[in-house]
Amino acid sequence: MAFTLEPGWPQSLREAFAHIGTVTSPSVDDIKIMALVEAASETLYQLSAKGTEHPGVIQILHSNGAEEMVHARRAAQVVGLLGGGAFEPPAAEDNPYLAADNLPVTPITPEGLRKQAQGEFGGQALYESWAARIDNPQAAALLRQNGAEEVDHGNRLLAAAELLEG
Ligand SMILES: [Fe+2]
Ligand SMILES: [Fe+2]
Repeated sequence: MAFTLEPGWPQSLREAFAHIGTVTSPSVDDIKIMALVEAASETLYQLSAKGTEHPGVIQILHSNGAEEMVHARRAAQVVGLLGGGAFEPPAAEDNPYLAADNLPVTPITPEGLRKQAQGEFGGQALYESWAARIDNPQAAALLRQNGAEEVDHGNRLLAAAELLEG
């Protein structure tokens, strides 16, 4: 079933990325938006993997992507822990942030991958700052776990850039 964005929420994936980057103390809605962005990120990784024939790079992009959906599920758990009720990240076909045709798909070049790695490292910093401001140890631990895995994603993307340079 299609997921409906609340009127006050970012209405596109680009706006959602920009929004979450400005949030220092997340509301339950911000964490729902993060869950949607994380879920969409799996698809972005799958789309970007179509931009290369290098099997090692494809494998890295697919495994990062699969973990983004895990992050979406953890963010959804955080929503519940913070009293936001039952929340499920939507499947790709129901995710409104994937409805546009100008999705921000990373170009598969060494520069593109290194830039994306910086974004992943930034994701860790964002999760850490959110965890530090959330007064629920279990929720904070879930956010920190996502953050730690963003570092893995960034490191894998740096390795993928090296693979491309062969
Ligand atoms: Fe993530
Ligand atoms: Fe990531």
